[in-house]
Amino acid sequence: MLLLNASGCLDALTAPDTVRAFDAFVTKTVTPEPRDGNPPVRIAETEHGMLNAIGLANPGRDRFFKEVLPQLRQVVDRPVWVSVGGFSVSDYVETCTELALHEVECVELNLSCPNVDEAPEGAAEIVAACREVVAAIPLYAKLSPHSWDVGESVRAVEAAGADGISLVNTLRGVALDAQLRPTLARVSGGYSGPALKPVALAAVFAARRATELPIVGMGGVQTGRDVLELIACGATHVALGTVLFADPSAPQRVRVELEEELARSGYASLEDLYGSSLDTVARTEN
Ligand SMILES: Cc1cc2nc3c(=O)[nH]c(=O)nc-3n(C[C@H](O)[C@H](O)[C@H](O)COP(=O)(O)O)c2cc1C
Repeated sequence: MLLLNASGCLDALTAPDTVRAFDAFVTKTVTPEPRDGNPPVRIAETEHGMLNAIGLANPGRDRFFKEVLPQLRQVVDRPVWVSVGGFSVSDYVETCTELALHEVECVELNLSCPNVDEAPEGAAEIVAACREVVAAIPLYAKLSPHSWDVGESVRAVEAAGADGISLVNTLRGVALDAQLRPTLARVSGGYSGPALKPVALAAVFAARRATELPIVGMGGVQTGRDVLELIACGATHVALGTVLFADPSAPQRVRVELEEELARSGYASLEDLYGSSLDTVARTEN
């Protein structure tokens, strides 16, 4: 199992020590053009998680390749996964074409952007087009929890050539201030944090029933126990997101808790635990 950061939740250049506690570093999503993101307010705390409407703020593809990636190579002594985003198939393909010229360990296609959200065919089309230009780099498809049938989305991107699946991105949510007006300038934002864990477990569970590809499970992970639960539902790897804002030492803590929880669980290893909750369902269905 690899422990990763979730895209957009860790700045490697300002927190290199936190990066070193992970097995690989996932970049913030890179888009073709620089993006300032949305106007403030862009973050809202809620009872069981947070809302963000950052809007894919990033320096854009050219600066990413000229400045950010070389800097990452110097600072981050870890495999780099590059998260790629866009608003059309050609946006994704052009970034992937350039990525193929660089040494990166993995490409994660962020297929949870607004205009490709919940569209298995759209997602599959992007995966198929990117697959052609990044033959040698593992290609992960990051899917939205809004999909009405995660299994169908997973089968579609697998058939299109994905090597792995990342689940889940944020859920759309709204928070109201004391005057009952939307807190975020854009009204809605991506909901992440503890409330997302059951959604992530359900998505990973459905994905594991649909595929044998590696799955990066994420959404609301805060503790070692949460990691065990995702693995029991069939996650191969696990990523930490929102927890990093409150606790930058989360990766070290979670690893210690994971050992303790595994010992308590009665399973000899993570491999034994892997997908075990699906076996339970198979038994009750028979
Ligand atoms: C502030 C913030 C920025 C994010 N930016 C990105 C992004 O650029 N690309 C992406 O694929 N996901 C992005 N995400 C989603 C996370 O990678 C992750 O899928 C989601 O937050 C669920 O995990 P968590 O509950 O552990 O945070 C972002 C999440 C947050 C909170």
